[in-house]
Amino acid sequence: MSTCKTILSKSQLQKRVSELGAQISQDYSGKSLVLIGVLNGAFIFMADLARAIALERVQVDFIRVSSYGKESESSGEITLSKDVELDLEGKDVLLVEDIIDTGRTLAWLHHSFQQRKAASVRICTLIDKPERREVDIQPDYTGFAVAQGFLVGYGLDYAEDFRHFPEISHLELS
Ligand code: IMP
Ligand code: MG
Repeated sequence: MSTCKTILSKSQLQKRVSELGAQISQDYSGKSLVLIGVLNGAFIFMADLARAIALERVQVDFIRVSSYGKESESSGEITLSKDVELDLEGKDVLLVEDIIDTGRTLAWLHHSFQQRKAASVRICTLIDKPERREVDIQPDYTGFAVAQGFLVGYGLDYAEDFRHFPEISHLELS
């Protein structure tokens, strides 16, 4: 049995994503930007964030990484299962993640992107769980900091379920 308690409503998500889009538009003013979504979790956030960015030139691409572990925890052993297809050389890149937990996935991705001769690589995450961090990585843009709990919805899954929920809920497994 599992129960879900909503912690971020549709309107809270919409408002914060608009604010992030406005901040990113200001910071990259006059530049073009490549948004790279980390599949599968970032697919909904990425779709909303892209539409909140008011720059003339924005390209989007996706990457997919797998980490072997339990349903609710990543093991830190990361492999690339789908790479980006755009050429990133000289580009300003923004990695778009659903959630940073231990930080292992993003630390790995950040390192891998630094070697691709991009002009800059920054990180935008919808949710940050800073208390859970095991490696030193800081997002440049954060939607919400959440202290604890396992979250589902708005792209976030538990064993691949619940990604389609329009709000973010705290999943209680019993
Ligand atoms: P990290 O490598 O420990 O930072 O894990 C990041 C990945 O673990 C995220 O991209 C998610 O796929 C997954 N994850 C971590 N915490 C949660 C959560 O609360 N809900 C759903 N997925 C999570
Ligand atoms: Mg996941």
